[in-house]
Amino acid sequence: MSKVYPVKPEFAAKARISKEDYERLYEESVRDPEGFWGRIGERLEWHRKPSKIKNVSYDPKNLHIRWYEDGELNVSANCLDRHLASRGDKTAIIFEGDDPNESRHLTYRELHAEVCKFANTLKNLGVAKGDRVAIYMPMIPEAAVAMLACARIGAVHSVVFGGFSPDSLAGRIADSTAKVVVTADEGVRGGKKIPLKANVDAALERPGTNSVETVIVVRRTGSAVPMQSPRDRYYHVLMEGQSADCPPTPVEAEHPLFILYTSGSTGKPKGVLHTSGGYLVFAGFTHEMVFDLREDDVYWCTADVGWVTGHSYVVYGPLANGATTVMFDGVPNYPDTSRFWNVVDKHKVTLFYTAPTAIRALMREGEAPVKKASRASLRLLGSVGEPINPEAWEWYYRVVGDERCPIVDTWWQTETGGIMITPLAGAIDAKPGSATKPFFGIRPAVVDAGGAVLEGATEGNLVIADSWPGQMRTVYGDHQRFVETYFTAYPGNYFTGDGVRRDEDGYYWITGRVDDVINVSGHRIGTAEVESALVSHPKVAEAAVVGCPHEIKGQGIYAYVTLIAGEQGSDELRKELVAWVRKEIGPIATPDYLQWAPGLPKTRSGKIMRRILRKIGENQPDQLGDISTLADPSVVKNLVEERLIK
Ligand code: WTA
Repeated sequence: MSKVYPVKPEFAAKARISKEDYERLYEESVRDPEGFWGRIGERLEWHRKPSKIKNVSYDPKNLHIRWYEDGELNVSANCLDRHLASRGDKTAIIFEGDDPNESRHLTYRELHAEVCKFANTLKNLGVAKGDRVAIYMPMIPEAAVAMLACARIGAVHSVVFGGFSPDSLAGRIADSTAKVVVTADEGVRGGKKIPLKANVDAALERPGTNSVETVIVVRRTGSAVPMQSPRDRYYHVLMEGQSADCPPTPVEAEHPLFILYTSGSTGKPKGVLHTSGGYLVFAGFTHEMVFDLREDDVYWCTADVGWVTGHSYVVYGPLANGATTVMFDGVPNYPDTSRFWNVVDKHKVTLFYTAPTAIRALMREGEAPVKKASRASLRLLGSVGEPINPEAWEWYYRVVGDERCPIVDTWWQTETGGIMITPLAGAIDAKPGSATKPFFGIRPAVVDAGGAVLEGATEGNLVIADSWPGQMRTVYGDHQRFVETYFTAYPGNYFTGDGVRRDEDGYYWITGRVDDVINVSGHRIGTAEVESALVSHPKVAEAAVVGCPHEIKGQGIYAYVTLIAGEQGSDELRKELVAWVRKEIGPIATPDYLQWAPGLPKTRSGKIMRRILRKIGENQPDQLGDISTLADPSVVKNLVEERLIK
């Protein structure tokens, strides 16, 4: 039996949603989605109010997802202009730099002016409604400014995480045919510089990137970086003399807001496309309800804008709600491991949202670095990105939250746009390790491999039986891939790619990915991407990559590598291959283990049996199952003997 942490009466007394509210509203939201989401849609300011709320078909032959389709709005106006009258002088963004002495506040009025000026800048550069703009930036306010400026003129942004390599950046630029890239001279993380502009230069030498006309460079460190004329322009120079008046362009609710690339089980990363109306309704509404948001909260989500959490819960959700959001450009252990808690005290953070991997890493440092800070301002804690192990949950609760703050363990995905399964702190008792219950309007279901819907306490694959406004609309440029990835395995449902257990109380426990995606420190990495990076090395004949348990990262990357004939595995070559993958994809894809494999276990039709490799990587060689169907069962013996985790 798992432990239960009942709703705190002190919290419930003031909470936005009580137990009764949750049950009543949830029931209504799934019985009458049109009525429910129609009402929730009114939280936005529309240039033209929608009369059609939901128009969705999950039929693979006619797949379409439309919400509020005849409505018109502007996302940046909803995040900025709408607040000016009542919150003009309220802080919108608190920027906290890598250097603890660097921070700055931007009010809604200041942010509005900056966004208008940058929107005018983009217009002057010929960026028009529907054009794509790549954003490859540190966690500085200019990243949010660039996103909102795109939204203001109906351009579509594609934020690429600043930790990705030039090749990864190039692939994303090419796929989205971006016209402009917004970047910085350099980033700084943990005191180390990251050559962002140099990476852009390298990316733009790759084939397929000649759609880019202009590179806009924000001065972050001030280091001299090569500027190519006329392509490269400094942000501060372009902004000089721009008007702070830029009327927002009204767009249809289904006009694309952004593309965000995410790893899948096969092939290149997919461009997940989100649109304007439904996405913003969902990001704003979930943010307000899940974090029990109040006017005077100071909200801090530690995610980078390069990930979906940074989109929905650093920028769009909080700003749509007129909240104060912290943008942190540093890391949890610089200058020391008290950093998170010092920042909490410095800015009087009330709501704090981070990833289990950070909790586990800090847990290892003991309680002292936490206890040094007061943390008295905190009132609610959140977790996202991967399953949180009960031990880490308890530590987060006891040590960080002083047993005072409820924890919301929020399950969702890049594809879902916002939080899907989560406790509401005033309404749902917590069980450490469980994301608990569905959010309003969300209908999770558990299916077996054959697609049969399982009832009651059970385990299987997690699907969502109906649409919600924040759902992705397509894979950019490849609608067929969208249909095939999410809607064909379990007809009539959206397939999440996650496994799940539902307990006797109807609580959901995410068990991890059931496809070939690895979740490393809360970041999704496709095994196929790492394999293709490895085989692009001249000495590698073949590679197979699986996930393995990792104490801090949740999952680590375990690679099996077959070298070309005549090559010998050595420690140097191992280092070289690991460095190669980092260079090809980025440091987040660094293999944790790399085992030489004279042969890989394959079926007679040549398919690699990953199940076997996974078991070997998990150090469970006695659980390989049936290996008699392998073309050459003898390869397994060597792999087991030489395994790297014992
Ligand atoms: C995993 C991040 C368990 C899951 C928002 C999902 C989680 C993938 C949780 C999406 C959670 C995310 N508990 N697992 N609270 N949150 N996941 O697209 O496997 O980067 O499918 O979105 O992370 O990762 P993504």
